[in-house]
Amino acid sequence: MINIGLFGYGTVGHGVKELLASQKNIGVFNLKKVFDRKEKAEEIGDIYASSIKEITADNNIDTVIECMGGDELPYQAITSSLKAGKNVISSNKETISKHLKEYLALAKENHASIQFEASVGGGIPLINPLWCLSQFDQIDSLQGILNGTSNSILTEMEESQLSFNQAVSLAQQKGFAEKDPSDDLNGNDLARKGAILASLAFQAEIKPDDFTRFGIENLTPMIISTLKKAGKRIKLILLVEKKEEGILNLVLPVAFDLQAPLALVKEETNGVLIDCSKNGPLFFEGKGAGKNPTASAILQDLTRVNSNIAPSFNPDINKPKLLKELPGRFYGFHPDGRMEKLVDPSETELRSFSFICQDK
Ligand SMILES: NC(=O)c1ccc[n+]([C@@H]2O[C@H](COP(=O)([O-])OP(=O)(O)OC[C@H]3O[C@@H](n4cnc5c(N)ncnc54)[C@H](OP(=O)(O)O)[C@@H]3O)[C@@H](O)[C@H]2O)c1
Repeated sequence: MINIGLFGYGTVGHGVKELLASQKNIGVFNLKKVFDRKEKAEEIGDIYASSIKEITADNNIDTVIECMGGDELPYQAITSSLKAGKNVISSNKETISKHLKEYLALAKENHASIQFEASVGGGIPLINPLWCLSQFDQIDSLQGILNGTSNSILTEMEESQLSFNQAVSLAQQKGFAEKDPSDDLNGNDLARKGAILASLAFQAEIKPDDFTRFGIENLTPMIISTLKKAGKRIKLILLVEKKEEGILNLVLPVAFDLQAPLALVKEETNGVLIDCSKNGPLFFEGKGAGKNPTASAILQDLTRVNSNIAPSFNPDINKPKLLKELPGRFYGFHPDGRMEKLVDPSETELRSFSFICQDK
């Protein structure tokens, strides 16, 4: 029997509890304690834990699942669980992207494991396949639509000819966008996810701030229709590319040909294209969020927590050279709508436009 402690009883936490209750033949997973605010105590019932410590100090709990969100409390819950030798599963991109190196080291030191499949791409099996590929193959590049909010806004702007603000309001009404969606639109959310993926792909510490970011906040229907006439569709992607001189980490709008695999990923769906030297290209697509897909990814992690093969960082490439040049062809748009085509522009040049996108 594997006894589980759950931190956070919100959307994902509810999904975890329901899926655990529906397990079929395995029958080995037992939800022993759940921590959340005291207002949820009655709903949680007998297994309610009123503090983090009630779970981390319980010697009968082998594995904890963290789905609270944010960083401060999750950091406390994850580090104290690992120090107590417990296996940890987290769906939290913020804390994983900030402290991955420390979490992996603590897990190793304490003969425990940390798994975070649900932290990027929700229900899409992505983290574990990427980690396995990185062991036996060379990842050449990774391109991902991994933010459902920005992708639904782009889909609505194109298909219903909405302005940016109208599309943001619609996404908020449909529950795809938060009250303050700025991190989804300026690329910060994608940089967190990109940092986790790039760190695994290259077994090196790459942080969200290592990503050069351009968002979609200044996109207009006129820009979308100009590009559509040229047979292009805009997507906000994270792009990680291994080059001879180092690694390029970017979040930027890209104008894809209409038939490109990523151009066909619409609304809140996520899609990732991984190019490797031996086994590529590979395309992953599916639900990047939601109670059930995310909980399903967490439960897949439960079947892996006892593996003694785990991600680690190669000390020889602890900080790879990060490239700042922005190679390729770009479209730059002036505030009055004029478009310029650019080749290998500098970052400063690109920031002088009201909107830019790479041409693929
Ligand atoms: N939702 C998704 O589809 C999805 C997909 C992939 C990954 N994730 C990640 O999974 C994590 C959880 O997401 P979620 O959507 O389930 O969030 P959520 O619905 O807000 O659930 C988080 C739960 O933790 C509680 N909590 C937060 N801080 C707390 C504190 N200091 N003390 C006690 N309880 C606290 C919250 O209580 P309050 O509500 O009272 O604050 C809430 O019940 C996040 O890291 C998110 O990025 C979510």
